[in-house]
Parts: sequence; structure tokens; C-alpha cells
Amino acid sequence: MHVAVLLFAFALTGTTLALDNGLMRTPPMGWLAWERYRCDIDCENDPKNCISENLFMDMADRLAEDGWKELGYVYVNIDDCWSSKQRDDQGRLQPDPKRFPGGIKKLAHYLHNRGLKLGIYGDMGKLTCMAYPGTPLDKIELDAQTFADWEVDMLKYDGCYSNAMEQELGYPLMSKALNATGRPIGYSCSWPAYQGGLPPKVNYTQLGEICNLWRNYGDIQDSWDSVLNIVDWFFENQDALTPAAGPGRWNDPDMGEHRPCPVPSPLNRPCSGPEHS
Ligand code: GLA
Repeated sequence: MHVAVLLFAFALTGTTLALDNGLMRTPPMGWLAWERYRCDIDCENDPKNCISENLFMDMADRLAEDGWKELGYVYVNIDDCWSSKQRDDQGRLQPDPKRFPGGIKKLAHYLHNRGLKLGIYGDMGKLTCMAYPGTPLDKIELDAQTFADWEVDMLKYDGCYSNAMEQELGYPLMSKALNATGRPIGYSCSWPAYQGGLPPKVNYTQLGEICNLWRNYGDIQDSWDSVLNIVDWFFENQDALTPAAGPGRWNDPDMGEHRPCPVPSPLNRPCSGPEHS
């Protein structure tokens, strides 16, 4: 595995109610595609790195076979750019047929057979941040049911192309819709990141009641500066953030980054493990 890894919530503890789905009593850990693999959909020229079922099966093998799973890294999470640009003839989201020929349910089974869980990505607007079909208000119930039918275990619900009023309605509605499917699906809300991340604009009590975790702040980038910027923001705002977190409800500073160490390790590139090729 080249540079990889790793979600998510660095816990800060406190005491309000949590989304009542019994999930994520400890901060969820796993792998998410976005920081490294972005929206690479060029499977013809870049088959190893493109967003396809092979990438997620590959990462599942790595988590299961290289000791990550034993440490608690059980989620393998799809981010943006997984879907077809069109919904199917019944109006449902569908994966890109060339890149996910087996479909999402089969991929979920591949993970479940290895003791892992599958996460998927949706967006509160008409479009996702990379302009794939979103899940606006009128599609929330349908898409929640589709994710449950596919036996998905977690949803990251992003906020591009939605306004504050739609978010106010949509984030709680998706929480209800996921619960109504009867399948326990961990719910990650990007909502506060679109509200500036801090009270009074962000209502952390409410978030704790409807989401299992939430992105408070901007995306991590592939640089040490970006890591430090995120650490600084969480440090500076810890008094506002700490009371929000507890079992089932976590602040999410975005992914960590695992950088295999080249030998010798260049001084300006911090790394965190043995080299893989
Ligand atoms: C936003 C999110 C990122 C990622 C991209 C995908 O920028 O904050 O984490 O999901 O969209 O397009």
C-alpha cells in the first residue's frame, strides 16, 4: 500500500445525548479514499489508483491482512466520485458500472466477510462537491433505503451545493431516514464544517443527538502544514468542542495520514512506518 490511511475522530469527551443507533461508542477508525485518491476516475490509464471496487477491495485486504483490523481500523470508506452521473430508471443512485461492476452490495459483502465495514458518501445538495448526483431533501428517504439495501455500514453526508436552510432540514431528516431503515448505519455529518465549526452557529447538542460524528473544520491536505493547521484549530477551540463529544458522538478533524518512511527519511517529510511498495 502506498501512502494511506486513516480516519477519523480524535475524541474529546463530554456529556450530551447521542444518536440512538448504538454505534460508534468509541471513535470510528478505518480508511477513507479522499485525501490520497481524490476523484481519479481514469481506470484505463491509472488502474491501481482510480476510484473503483478494486481500490476498496485492495484496502480491505491490507486492513485485514496487515494487522490494522486488530488495532480497530475496521471501516473502509468510499468518498466522492463513486456513482454514475445518472440515477437508475427507478430514480435510485447507482455506482459507476465500469468502475464498480460488481455493485456496492457485493463490495459490502467482500468487506463483511473479512470482519470489516463499508462506508459510502452522499451530499445534501443537488450535486456532490465533484458534481456527481447528490441527495437533496426529496431524495433522502430513497437514498437512505438504497444504502441500507446495499448493506452499507456508514454514511458521510457532505454539504456542497446546499444552503443553510436545506442543511437545517436535511441533516436531521437523513438521521431519521437512516434509523427508519432498521439497519444500523453510522452517520457522519459534514454540516458544522459548512457553518464555520463553532457555536453559536453550530449547535453541538443537536449534532450529538442526530449524528455519530461530524466534520468540524476544513479538509486535510497532503502536507505537514495542513496537519498543523488542523491541530492548531482544534487546540484553540477545544473548550467549545470538548463538551460535544462522548460515546456515539464525536468531533472529526478529518483523516490522519500515514506516510511510509523512505530510507533514509528526508527531514522535511515526517513519516510513520516501514516502507511499503
Ligand atoms: C468536500 C469534503 C471532502 C471530500 C470532498 C469530495 O471537500 O470536505 O472531505 O469529501 O468534498 O468531493
